[in-house]
Amino acid sequence: MNVPLRKCLIPEFILGDGAINLASRYVNFFNPKKVLVVTDKGLRETKLVSKIEKQFTENKVPYCIFDHVSPNPRDHEVMEGAQMYRKENCNVILAIGGGSAMDAAKGIGIVSTNFNAIERFEGVDKIADPMPPLVCIPTTAGTSADISQFAIILNSSEKTKMAIISKTVVPDTSLIDAETTLTMNAELTAATGIDAMVHAFEAYASSASSAITDMNALEAIRLIKKYLPLTLKSPDNLKYRNKMMLASLLAGIAFSNASLGLVHAMAHALGGLKDAAHGICNAILLDHVVDFNYDAVPNKYIEIAKAMDLNLIHTSTERGKALLVETIQEFKYACGIREGLNQIGIHDADIPHLAKKAFNDACIVTNPRDAEIADIQNIFRNAR
Ligand SMILES: [Fe+2]
Repeated sequence: MNVPLRKCLIPEFILGDGAINLASRYVNFFNPKKVLVVTDKGLRETKLVSKIEKQFTENKVPYCIFDHVSPNPRDHEVMEGAQMYRKENCNVILAIGGGSAMDAAKGIGIVSTNFNAIERFEGVDKIADPMPPLVCIPTTAGTSADISQFAIILNSSEKTKMAIISKTVVPDTSLIDAETTLTMNAELTAATGIDAMVHAFEAYASSASSAITDMNALEAIRLIKKYLPLTLKSPDNLKYRNKMMLASLLAGIAFSNASLGLVHAMAHALGGLKDAAHGICNAILLDHVVDFNYDAVPNKYIEIAKAMDLNLIHTSTERGKALLVETIQEFKYACGIREGLNQIGIHDADIPHLAKKAFNDACIVTNPRDAEIADIQNIFRNAR
């Protein structure tokens, strides 16, 4: 049997109750002169950031806080954070928040050691010098920026999302504590949970998948199919939140190493133009992209279906595709996601521009079926 060469990079992570209480211990491994804490304004008001401040104060860890981070973090926010990092003479970064805070922290790290504007690093392997040490504390179960080789930053003048993909943006340590996700409302829980589901789908169907990424992706799909609806019904149930954190981690290990596909390429184009929530963009597109990709890798989708409790053995390819698409739609509805592109403000006139952007996104490279611009336009039209 031929085994294709595949690299795999997974950083140190500490998973479990109380992981957030290890923040000062883990930043201390890097001899901090001063820690730049990157978060957003909403989270700064919560007890999560004050928990970090208390630990740092008690353990005499010098720190300053940068909280100018928007959902879909902007290029100018990254540059502002890097300015603060330099001015305050920091040498370690701690990010606490969802994908936005962690991606912004990665951007700040890249700019701080490479002395150039963030847009210069868009694409694959464009970063020469490693970032400063970065410790992450994720507060959503979905993005996996805390372990991934990806950082997504909004280019605000061009209204596009830049995918920065490099092993240098993998954080040093992630402290994964499900209690931090209790602050999420239902909408954010659903959007981030679906994002994790799409990571697993795309990693499993990716042309760069491997045995390691496959097993993580399928287990993530099983867990999310079961526990995302349960979490939405019982948002204070820590057992369900823990299962979603685990699922997000597994999906992150899968996609960070197998990369993604057309859903993310198209979602990045949408998020850039309309500043729409990433998970919602993914949810809108997933069933339509599966419909497009299915015939290229039917056996992979049969396994994905199995992980979603749908048996497609002895079913024709056409029928199997229809059943899987239907199952995805039902799952989205069960999670309260019913939007189409029209509801997030996309008009027909936007589609040619969006399709061109998606066609040039780095995530399209590993999609299991080649997509031309006309194909992408059709998928966008179907998703209205
Ligand atoms: Fe994503």
